[in-house]
Parts: sequence; C-alpha cells; structure tokens
Amino acid sequence: MKPSTVAELLSQNKTQVEIEIKGWVRTFRANRFIALNDGSTINNIQCVIDFENTDESLLKRITTGAAVHIKGTLVESKGKGQSVEIQVSSIDILGDSNPEEYPIQPKKHSFEFLREHAHLRTRTNTLSAVMRLRSSLSFAIHKYFNDNGFYYMHTPIITGSDAEGAGEMFRVSNLDAKNPPLNDEGEVDYTQDFFGKETNLTVSGQLEAETFAMSLGKVYTFGPTFRAENSNTSRHLSEFWMIEPEVAFMDLTGNMDLAEDFLKSVLSYILENNKEDLAFLEQRLIQEDKTKPQAKRNEMTLTKKLRFVIDNNFKRVSYTEAIDILRNCKPNKKKKFKYIINEWGTDLQSEHERFLVEKYFKCPVILFNYPAKIKAFYMRQNDPDEKGRKTVRAMDILFPGIGEIVGGAQREERLEVLKEKMAALNISEEELWWYLDLRKYGTAIHSGFGLGFERLVMFATGMSNIRDVIPFPRTPQNADF
Ligand code: 4AD
Ligand code: MG
Repeated sequence: MKPSTVAELLSQNKTQVEIEIKGWVRTFRANRFIALNDGSTINNIQCVIDFENTDESLLKRITTGAAVHIKGTLVESKGKGQSVEIQVSSIDILGDSNPEEYPIQPKKHSFEFLREHAHLRTRTNTLSAVMRLRSSLSFAIHKYFNDNGFYYMHTPIITGSDAEGAGEMFRVSNLDAKNPPLNDEGEVDYTQDFFGKETNLTVSGQLEAETFAMSLGKVYTFGPTFRAENSNTSRHLSEFWMIEPEVAFMDLTGNMDLAEDFLKSVLSYILENNKEDLAFLEQRLIQEDKTKPQAKRNEMTLTKKLRFVIDNNFKRVSYTEAIDILRNCKPNKKKKFKYIINEWGTDLQSEHERFLVEKYFKCPVILFNYPAKIKAFYMRQNDPDEKGRKTVRAMDILFPGIGEIVGGAQREERLEVLKEKMAALNISEEELWWYLDLRKYGTAIHSGFGLGFERLVMFATGMSNIRDVIPFPRTPQNADF
C-alpha cells in the first residue's frame, strides 16, 4: 500500500479501500475527529478514531501540529462538509507537537504574527493556498514561454553593472569591512576585492538578456533580483523575483501585446488549475471585507477580478494623455493627492497610478511613452513631440490594487544615440562595452519587460502585503530565516 495524499483521497470515488496517509493534525475534536492536512490541497481529510479502543496516552499525543501516520479504510462520510473520510485502524505519532508551545493554534492569527513565524506559517490555510498559487503561477509562466518558442536564460546574480541606474544595489565583497585596502586617493581599493572590481547583486537580468535576444531571438529570465531601496511599503521587497522576456525585432506595440497576452494566459491558468485555493482565498476576502467600511471593500470578488483582467483589453494610454487626465481630476484639483500633478515631466506616484486604474479607467492600464528624464538609459528615444518634449518608448502596466506590475521598453538600438545618452548620465562605456557591442554588430530593434513576480502573486491571491506572498521576505531591517 503506497501512502496517498489528501488531495488524491478526496478526489477518489472508490470507498471501502484500505489506505495509508501521512500528514499534520490541524485539529482534533471530541477525542475522535482529526482534521488532517498534508499540503497537497487546501482541504483537510477527516480521520475518525475509534477512541474507545485507543490508548488514552496515544489520544493525548494527537495535538495540533503533530505529524502522524494513519492507516485505515476510506469510507463515505456521514458528517457534513466532506464526501469521504478515513476510518482509522492505526495511528502512529511521527512527531509530537507540544500544544502549550506550538504557535500555530487553530484560530485566526494576524499576518504580522505569522510573519514572525514564517517557518510555520505555511501550515495555515491562507499561506499554504498562497504558496501553492505561487508555485502554479511559476509553472504557468514557464509554460507560456515554452509554448511560445522562448528560451529560458539564466543571467548572473553577481554583476558589475547597475541596469536601472538607480544606484540601489547591495555590494558583494569579501574585503575586510573593518579594515579594507585603500588606494592612493584613500578610497576602498576594489581591485583587491574578490572579483578585482566593484560588484553587486543584480537589480535586473535585462542587459544580459538582451545579449541572448540578439542571438536566440526570443528569451526570458526568471530569477531573483535585489534592490537596496529603503521602501517600507506593502509592495516593495529587497529581494524579489522578476520575469524578464526580451525579443529581437519586436517594437513597443509588440511588447505591449506580448505582456498583455502573457498576463492573461498565466491568470487563466490558475483559474483553471487552482480552483480550490482561489475559492478559499475569495471567501477569506469576503470575510475580511465584512470588517471594513463600505468604501474600502473590494468591488469584485477575487475570481471576478481575475476574469475581468482576462476578458478585457488593457487600456493603452500615453504618459502625456495620463498627465492631462491627472491634472484635471478631482483629487488633484482638491489637493487630495499627496503629490500634486502640475507639470508634464513629473514621475507618477502609486496614488496617481491607482487613480487611473481603479477610479478612472477601471481596468488594467498600459502607460507608454514616458518622459526620457524619468526612465532608464537603455530606452528607445522617440522624436521630440510637437512641443519639443522628449519621450522614450517605455511602458508600465498598472493593475488594480497593485499599481505598477510590469515595467518595460523598446531598447535603444542606435549605437550613437545610446552612447550620447550614457555619456549624459555618466554611465561608463568601458563597463558596458559588451552592451554597446550589441549595437555595433547586427543591431536591430528589440524590446522586453520585467514583471515583478510577487506583485503578480499579490494580485492573483488578493493578499494586500507583498511580505505574505514570498516564503521569507527580505525588507529593510529584516532578513530573518
Ligand atoms: O520597473 P523595473 O525597475 O524594471 C526593470 O528592472 C527592467 N529592467 C525590466 C525589463 O525591462 N526587463 O522593475 C520591473 C518590475 C516592476 O514593474 C515591479 O513589478 C517589480 O519589478 N519591482 C518590484 N517588486 C517588488 N519589490 C520591489 N522593490 C520592486 N521593484 C520593482
Ligand atoms: Mg518600473
């Protein structure tokens, strides 16, 4: 008899069979009913103990959190809430869990509390549902690209370049921090460091991904990225995972088409394949909403929201149009925004992005053609507009409740224009010689984008804090576990 999973047993319609299962006790009620979970599904299987013929000392060890090995018969359930249950013939305690100490008691815990017990929090319904969805979304992402002829590339984690030019990098060094070698100018001498130069954890795999796009055509990366920005928000992590496709001969419109199709496809995948976890999370949100004032409640249920994104075209709006909308909108005129929009050229804050998505267009929005000044050096410059304003072929995708979920662009493929831009921003040609080579030898238009994986998981699960959709969040002042 091979041990089954709870998921297998619950979906089985053959009863009166001998089965064997291992899992953790979620609850034990009336000295009789174990709700057993093994992570294979959000649902528990009920295991019924013949307590009159079971040792008292054994019954005492059946506590929340204990690991058990159960043998018995799968039978039709007489109780409500489940179709089958296990009539237990033997139970072995594999690992005790002291009920006085075990932190994950069968009651409602705050997400803050669970974060402090991140090593145990996936034993709760909500966090386990989130992690199963995270896994499923990862798979859907790889599947989408594989089905569409993309190659999966691994780009370096340790790098010498700052792709985004924001200077928000974590240094990688094995120099003695207390007593680093100094050069003649009295600065730290990185030529004596491990790699013979200054290196950092990557903020993006894009620049390297471009090298592969310019040889393999359609590629993507899916890896960890690191940002030392001191943003203590519910949408920022210091370590997060990013998906970055990069495609040769594709322009900005093609990039938008790809991103939209891709997002719709991966969300469809989970609607199809993660029904139980989504139903659970949807109910969780409905319950949570009841505790909130009307104005703060979700307008749509979770699955409706996912369907809405899948079924509707994303609204494509230029930055210039967006600024006009924002300048004239009520919250701007009434000074309800923290940052008032006056001029063309200012960067949008998340309050503006969320206004556009949630209040104005009420659907996902793709903003494109941003002012050159507020975007990274590698973006393709447009000809100046009728007012002489300079924009680049950038695009950001904004989602309800999240704000920016995707950032991308058509890349500057013209060597001279790129060199000028780098010079203006003090970006070293020596450092990025290889990147410039792509423009020297067989240059071509190409585009790509970066999707913040955790922001996607937030959207898909309805979780409101990014720290609750990654197993072990890294944020300013926190790298526990
Ligand atoms: O907009 P970003 O900075 O774009 C890039 O890094 C480009 N090199 C991508 C590309 O074109 N290949 O980041 C992309 C996405 C954002 O839209 C956001 O979803 C996510 O990464 N992101 C973060 N997610 C969590 N925590 C942070 N600190 C994030 N910073 C960006
Ligand atoms: Mg961005």
